[in-house]
Amino acid sequence: MTTVYLNGAYVPKADAKVSVDDRGFVFGDGIYEVVRVIEGRIFAWADHAARMARGLEAVRIPFGAAEVASLESVCMKLVAENGLTSGEATIYLQVTRGAAPRTHYFPPAGTPPTVYAAASKFTASADMRDKGVKAVTFPDFRWARCDLKTVNLMGAVLARQAAHEAGAYEALMLRDGMLMEGAATNAFVVINGAVRTYPLSNYILPGITRTYVLEAARAVGVRVVEEPVTAAELHGAPEVFIAGTTTDTAPVVMIDGRPVGDGKPGPVTKRVQAEFLKRLYGR
Ligand code: PDD
Repeated sequence: MTTVYLNGAYVPKADAKVSVDDRGFVFGDGIYEVVRVIEGRIFAWADHAARMARGLEAVRIPFGAAEVASLESVCMKLVAENGLTSGEATIYLQVTRGAAPRTHYFPPAGTPPTVYAAASKFTASADMRDKGVKAVTFPDFRWARCDLKTVNLMGAVLARQAAHEAGAYEALMLRDGMLMEGAATNAFVVINGAVRTYPLSNYILPGITRTYVLEAARAVGVRVVEEPVTAAELHGAPEVFIAGTTTDTAPVVMIDGRPVGDGKPGPVTKRVQAEFLKRLYGR
């Protein structure tokens, strides 16, 4: 039986009930996070908490940095209660603007945000890491605040479904002829030996994994260039990889049915990946 956290209580998942008036349900009016747990230790908690607090502040949900910080002990309790202190897990955290009669504008002051967290067992895919994944390109028609991790994920849902229907893992989002990121990952392209990735802006999520991947690249002497990559550069690149909390790093070996490079994970990708995994697993 899974125990989840909902509004201050630890309850069996089947008993965790949210109002149909919840603004998360009605409007997608909330902010979420996904964190990775390895042997009972949360990877990069401080980074995730900072991003969540920034997101909540940006959309004016009254749940401050101190309250977000307090979710760390909630996560640890969920890990313990669900027998996840060894091996790997992920934790999904969500804070919505709460339940209130439907108005597009904010509910009355004092409406408590809905706070939910759930931990699940996770198994990293060695296959994905070692052999790589297929991707498709997809038009990025998401809104212009992709830097906010809002619960409203229609663009990502449709993109990932297109990938799924094509037998691929990820959809690479193209906006105005430029590669932005994956539907649920950040994307990296090797050009002239350097790792290129879209610069932090309102058009991509500032991925926590992205930060650690770029640091790992620099640590092994790979040049990092935070500049846009065109669709043509993407299709002609010798190596492409993606990174995110539940993907860690995965080489992209096929895009839109065409092999990337020789269709096998490339040397730069492998070096960066190995260095990143050392950081992830604390070795
Ligand atoms: N997705 N870009 C988008 C659009 C994402 O949704 C995610 C994460 C990332 C990678 O961010 P991070 O390294 O912080 O996980 C980039 C999460 C895992 C999800 O939606 O499940």
